[in-house]
Parts: sequence; structure tokens; C-alpha cells
Amino acid sequence: MRRKVIAGNWKMNMLPNETIQFIEDLAPLVKDTEHEVILCVPYTDLFYALLTAQNTNIKIGAQNMHFAESGAYTGEVSGKMLKSINVEYVIIGHSERRQYFNETDETVNKKVKAAFENGLKPIVCVGETLEQREAGKVEEIITNQTKLALEGLTNEQVENTIIAYEPIWAIGTGKTATKEDANDAVKAIRKKIAEIYGQNVADGVIIQYGGSVKSSNASELFSMSDIDGALVGGASLKVDEFQKIIKFEQ
Ligand code: 13P
Repeated sequence: MRRKVIAGNWKMNMLPNETIQFIEDLAPLVKDTEHEVILCVPYTDLFYALLTAQNTNIKIGAQNMHFAESGAYTGEVSGKMLKSINVEYVIIGHSERRQYFNETDETVNKKVKAAFENGLKPIVCVGETLEQREAGKVEEIITNQTKLALEGLTNEQVENTIIAYEPIWAIGTGKTATKEDANDAVKAIRKKIAEIYGQNVADGVIIQYGGSVKSSNASELFSMSDIDGALVGGASLKVDEFQKIIKFEQ
């Protein structure tokens, strides 16, 4: 049985004092959960989040990184830098980065490799636009993004990658994919991984759903055969809502 992984993506929200308060409030509420809990916070909150989450079961991630270790890349942060302060996870290839910051399948692949080289665990985002869905191209788009993101990784690295299926039209819109559509998309990703890396690897990979996940729809999404948790945006900014998602409570 695969574990469930519930990750919050705070995007460009929350200041250090709010981060400390949030984690102090959340930690006792989720201390007994059997699910993995991750908060992916802005760079400026990472250090505070890591300190506050020490001795709790909340893990901390970043939302992006550069693929180079160091160098003349003004404004960027490397995997080596994230690892140096004990960050554990890093989101790579979020659709907002693909859309606004020229992230491509090629840079996603470079970043995933650099994450592993630096001992970080990547959460790789894939997902289709509404246009692509309406054209019947969901499977083609998301399996291709997955294949390109994972190219050149070892089986072990693929098994340690978390994939987040996030249909772009469902992000921040209040529209969630139906549990059947979400599960079908996740299954298609798992099938593609099986084709390339073998069934054993595919059976072990955590594949989350993301896009307007909230406490009122989390439990039905998590009841599906292939959905192994969620990458949560807006609803991860409120302690009560996020802890309900982690506990699958309505
Ligand atoms: P929302 O949950 O706000 O729709 O955002 C989803 C997302 O982009 C998580 O990475």
C-alpha cells in the first residue's frame, strides 16, 4: 500500500511570523496522522519553517530551485543551498512557473536531476490546460510531461519522485476534476511510468492530485485507487482547513 502524502503549496503567501504561528498551531493537530505532511513555503520562510517544524512530523519543502549548483544566476537559489539548511522537498515545474517564468520540460528535467544530486526529493507537477482537455489530449500531454521530466533518472530515483497531477483549469478556480477524471489521469501517468521503468517502480510512485482541493472534496478524491494524496494551494493557508484535509474530514 502506498502512503498518502498531503503537501501544502503556499505559493507567494505568508511572512515568517505567520509561518511560525501556522506550524505551531498545525503540529499538535496532525501529530498522530499516518499520512505524510509537507509544507512548501517561500524561500524567505524556509529557515523559520524548518526551525519551527523540528521535532514535529511536518516536513518542509521549497517551491522551486535552479539546476546549477552555484554561479552567475542573479536571484536564483540552488539545490545545494536548499539542502544546506535541511530542506527535504522541492516542487518542480509547477504550472505557474511554466506559464509565467518560462519553465520548460527541459528545465524541469534538469532541475529534477539536480534535486536528486543534492539529496532533495522532487514533487514534479504536470497537467493540461482546458483547451487541451477539450481537444481530448489529456493523456498525451500529461504522460509526455511525465516522461520528459523523469528522463535519465534511475529506477530508484523515479520511485522517490512525487508526481502531482494538477489540471491547470482546476488551479485556484474552485473547479475540481471529478474523482473519476482525476483518477483516470493519475492512472495514465502510472501506466506510462510502468512502460518505461517497470510495473514495480510504477506501483511505488506517489502521484498526487492538485487543483482546488479542500476539506469538502479531499476524502472522495483520496478514496480513489490511484490518487495518493494532494498538493493543496489556497486551502493550505488556513490551519483548520488544511488539518481537515490531512485527516480527510469534511
Ligand atoms: P489551489 O488548491 O489553490 O487550486 O492550488 C493548487 C496548486 O496549484 C497547488 O500547487
